[in-house]
Amino acid sequence: MKPEITTWQEYQAAYKESIENPSNFWSKIAKTFYWQKEWTNVCSGDFSDVNIRWFDGGILNITENCLDRHLAERGDHLALIWEPNDPTEKMHGVRKYTYRQLYEEVLCCAQMLQKLGVQKGDRVCIYLPMIPEILICMLACARIGAIHSVVFGGFSAASLAERINDSDAHILITADSAFRGNKEIHLKEIADKAIQNAPGIQHCIVYIHTGCAIPWVEGRDLKYQDLIAQTTAECPAVPMEAEAPLFILYTSGSTGKPKGIVHTTAGYMVYVGYTFRNIFQIRDDDIFWCTADVGWITGHSYLVYGPLLNGTTVLMFEGIPTYPDPGRFWQVIQKYKVTIFYTAPTVIRSLLLEGTSYLEDKDLSSLRVLGSVGEPINEEAWQWYYKHVGKERCPIVDTYWQTETGGIVISPIANITPTPPCYATYPLPGIVPAILDSYGKEIALNSLKEPAEGTLCFKQPWPSIARTTFRDHARFKKVYFEEYPGYYLTGDNARYEPTTGMFRITGRMDDVLNVSGHRLGTAEIENAINEHEAVVETAVVGYPHPIKGQGIYAFVICDRPFSSSEDLLKSVQQLVSEKIGPIAKPDYVQVVPGLPKTRSGKIMRRILRKLLEGATPTQIGDTSTLLDPAIVESIFEGLLLKPKAV
Ligand code: WTA
Repeated sequence: MKPEITTWQEYQAAYKESIENPSNFWSKIAKTFYWQKEWTNVCSGDFSDVNIRWFDGGILNITENCLDRHLAERGDHLALIWEPNDPTEKMHGVRKYTYRQLYEEVLCCAQMLQKLGVQKGDRVCIYLPMIPEILICMLACARIGAIHSVVFGGFSAASLAERINDSDAHILITADSAFRGNKEIHLKEIADKAIQNAPGIQHCIVYIHTGCAIPWVEGRDLKYQDLIAQTTAECPAVPMEAEAPLFILYTSGSTGKPKGIVHTTAGYMVYVGYTFRNIFQIRDDDIFWCTADVGWITGHSYLVYGPLLNGTTVLMFEGIPTYPDPGRFWQVIQKYKVTIFYTAPTVIRSLLLEGTSYLEDKDLSSLRVLGSVGEPINEEAWQWYYKHVGKERCPIVDTYWQTETGGIVISPIANITPTPPCYATYPLPGIVPAILDSYGKEIALNSLKEPAEGTLCFKQPWPSIARTTFRDHARFKKVYFEEYPGYYLTGDNARYEPTTGMFRITGRMDDVLNVSGHRLGTAEIENAINEHEAVVETAVVGYPHPIKGQGIYAFVICDRPFSSSEDLLKSVQQLVSEKIGPIAKPDYVQVVPGLPKTRSGKIMRRILRKLLEGATPTQIGDTSTLLDPAIVESIFEGLLLKPKAV
């Protein structure tokens, strides 16, 4: 499908109409999709009552839009190219699916799930590596109206069990093992451990991917390939109401356990399909590569749904950027003539350190558009990406969004709107940003003379905003809508430039960490570390890290001496790997005599953050509200990381 926005004037006109007359605007966009029955009411609800609904009365199935409707004209066009971790691997080699082949695979998989008794509204948990089956299983769920809940393959058994239990899933789909670089991750073993604490699981479907030896529970465990062999490519698309849930995706917040963010069918489809083709200015022959794992929202929206809704060819890569050498990404771009490359700043920063020799011998002339997502991109990384990857020919779209927003909300439109370094720039149609000052008062952006920075919120519902947290609407309201009534709170800070009207995202304002583009909550990590036998209390904060964006630093109070700080670090890392996953391991664990707490017992993480950014105790401002101001000095003395002085 063709982008609607092709000029700056068209962007302005689309934006204006989307705000002044959202019903008109979005019904035109919605008509570019296939509906079994059209909607009767475009949108209703607001941020005060938190009862948002889009395209009410409409009946559709998203898979008819991702697959069936492309068959007539694009049936033989490639839908998916899969590149394995090991470029020389023999077991599968490269896997390619045309739209027709993908359609057939999805229908077989959907029939398989139906035969196992999965029905509309049931939750299916998917714990798979980056292989075509992850996408096939998601679409198969959507085909029969089941709600998929994908859990990133880097999460531990405990995290997986928690997510299975919260979503009340009875089917888990996993693989024997997966490769990432020269590491093998034994997913089936992890799944088995999880199921011990997830008694609701009736069947574990195992895709045999590497052929490694795996434990097996007769009756409960079923081989994916055996089940598929007994199916036919027949499965009608179950009619879904516009507001029927499409998926649950767990994400971390400031407090408590991860939240099961719920996205519904029609609004998500319309917004993600529309933003994909417009932001990247999609053409018929594009090869689009999104390097994000399907286990995160970027993978859901811009590796699976966005490209398939538009009949685009998408590339999925199982491996990592540095295997077998740091030229792998560039080699993959050259091999498949990738035209659009969408990745995270952390990837750019790690490859930048390898120098340009890995790029120089590759032909990257197929590239047309570059994208960045997941965290603020720093100027150095932006310039390197622009110069060495895009050869100063390709615009970089710095796309800002969140699991909760469903799709990209602030971003340039490639070759149409400006792309200054480090700016997410302008809101997409339907998005009304607001910046609140430290008192929670909205700053009047129209009359500003100087740039202003504050809390980024959105004022008006758009089609793909999350509808709720699974089975806990009260929590959804509390986290996103209560502190500033009438606004959706992003948790990010942003700066507004009145001369250009552009937004720059400056980072999280809450206790959410962004480590290598992975979103983690400090509370979750603290809870895990508190289970350590020697630890009484923990405060976790992020510190600036040259590659990961943020690193994880834990301050712990211990009630017994530990043999060595190295042993303490190792045992804490081990514990966090088990409780959450290796991605959440702290880099440093510092034993402290106390934590900076207010008289009411709240830990002032802000002070700890400042120390790690290089401030001395005298530079961190007023500490008079602390119960014991002297503690700051002793924490400072014991810092394991000596940042450059500010
Ligand atoms: C951060 C990922 C700056 C932000 C799509 C947000 C960004 C969090 C950008 C959401 C960007 C994402 N510039 N920061 N272009 N994109 N973020 O839910 O802090 O995994 O709140 O969704 O990532 O992370 P999530």
